[in-house]
Amino acid sequence: MLTLEKITNEEIKEILDIAEEEKIFVKGKDDANMSITDIVMHFGNGKDFHPFKVILDNKAIGFITSFPYKEKDILSLGVMYTLKEYRGKGLGKEMVNLFLDYAKSLGFKKIFTKTWSKNKSSNGIFKSLGFVETSRKLNDRIDGDDTVEYIKILS
Ligand SMILES: CC(C)(COP(=O)(O)OP(=O)(O)OC[C@H]1O[C@@H](n2cnc3c(N)ncnc32)[C@H](O)[C@@H]1OP(=O)(O)O)[C@@H](O)C(=O)NCCC(=O)NCCS
Repeated sequence: MLTLEKITNEEIKEILDIAEEEKIFVKGKDDANMSITDIVMHFGNGKDFHPFKVILDNKAIGFITSFPYKEKDILSLGVMYTLKEYRGKGLGKEMVNLFLDYAKSLGFKKIFTKTWSKNKSSNGIFKSLGFVETSRKLNDRIDGDDTVEYIKILS
């Protein structure tokens, strides 16, 4: 069974280092010079920063974070990651679902998130969980890909 557990700063550093090494995140042109660790540390602060490690069979297989959002009632789903060998088995979708339940339990009404358009698994998860595309920023990523923004209404 998959669970989310609050993560300490030490632990998040360890798993961010693994993600960093994989160089899999296609950064936006605005944060081209920032590492994923820099991004999490920069946006991840204040009361709406909720970083979790994702646990499967007592092992941390990934992380998922929330970032603050400019509008009240909306929480931003920030960086998420699972170890390579655990991908494509539905665990990412399960982890986002647990995150949605958590956001709902805090009283949030909507979730904002964004990703790059060629990220098939992220876009697949968002679409299958009822996220609606609200904006597309063309040529916004360092490799020329677009940024897709989504909103999910929590029901
Ligand atoms: C993004 C990530 C967390 C998703 O986790 P995952 O366990 O691989 O995703 P899932 O197995 O739950 O699959 C998600 C959905 O994408 C779909 N999908 C996956 N690969 C696909 C492909 N190549 N083409 C079309 N759809 C695809 C799946 O079918 C599934 O949709 P469904 O539930 O409707 O069938 C994980 O892949 C990851 O860590 N990637 C690297 C880092 C990253 O990209 N982070 C996100 C940045 S926003």
